[in-house]
Amino acid sequence: MLEKIGEIKKTALDALAKIEGEEGLDQWKVTHLGRSSAIMDVFKNMGSVPKEERGNVGRTANQVKQALQAALDEKKEALHQAEIQRALQEEKIDITLPGYAIPRGRLHPTTQTLREIYRVFADMGFQIYRSREVETDEFNFQLLNFPPHHPAREMQDSFYVDSGEERGENPILLRTHTSPGQIRAMREFTAENPDNPPPVRIILPGMCYRYEQVSARSETQFTQVEGLAVGHDVTFSDLKGTLSDFARRMFGKNVDSRFRASHFPFTEPSAEMDIECFLCGGAGCSVCKHTGWLEILGCGMVHPNVLSNGGYDPERYSGFAFGMGPERITMLRYHIEDIRYFWANDMRFLEQF
Ligand code: DAH
Repeated sequence: MLEKIGEIKKTALDALAKIEGEEGLDQWKVTHLGRSSAIMDVFKNMGSVPKEERGNVGRTANQVKQALQAALDEKKEALHQAEIQRALQEEKIDITLPGYAIPRGRLHPTTQTLREIYRVFADMGFQIYRSREVETDEFNFQLLNFPPHHPAREMQDSFYVDSGEERGENPILLRTHTSPGQIRAMREFTAENPDNPPPVRIILPGMCYRYEQVSARSETQFTQVEGLAVGHDVTFSDLKGTLSDFARRMFGKNVDSRFRASHFPFTEPSAEMDIECFLCGGAGCSVCKHTGWLEILGCGMVHPNVLSNGGYDPERYSGFAFGMGPERITMLRYHIEDIRYFWANDMRFLEQF
């Protein structure tokens, strides 16, 4: 019996010596130390060992079992160390190698212009108000004082989402300008709303859509920044002061501006603001078409009907509004000749900003 135990030990140790990787150790443990291993059988069959030998056999078997466990632990540690050595050798990191350059992202040119506009108006106490891009005909036109067949509606050929005929209600469309947000904002800035009491002093940025023939000068989508100030005693000189100051903060402190009479259904009186051409300083160049002036925005005093539609009594309140196109401003600044570049996602264009 003792001989047999000796054999068991030898077989197990030989097998262990042949193992080359840590993966083999678990299987070895099952085979040589597990419940149905040869050494465990010795313990199970103790009953058939003559009484006088049992003590000796039991002790020897125990020693072998412990020796096998110890050999396993030792082997495990040795393999582990070998693995560490191998990794240290093979996985050396050369910290002197130059790293991979991480390409820096950039902001879309329109976003850059938008952020400058936000900064200037934020400094003047204007808050950003975001309004929806999908609007009803009522908000996009009617409440802004466009009568049903007003010619300006043709000017703004629209993308209709739903004609409204089946529901017998308002058509739904993609907003053609940011102006409908004026009504939504005025209805939210009320004396009863402790978060947003009047006066209203906001800018409304966002994407607008028009069903237009795409060309170098017109796109079906573009951003606008609308502005609205409503309160007591807001006058046209507040409008002029605010917008001239905007022009100086945005384009340069010596930049002159001028206002020309214009027409919009939602403002009365209405104007367009030009700034002195920042490329030629007013001397005349191809960008300002030799006039010395660049048209930058439309503006005016909020029409009494629009104030009422927004929930403000035109007898007690007045306001001014304006609207500008960040793509146009960006085009003038960087001498970009084709508006289609903006939303075509061509990296060659975007990487230049
Ligand atoms: N909504 C006009 C447009 O889409 C721009 C505009 C002009 C907005 C005058 C205004 C304004 O608020 O007062 O062309």
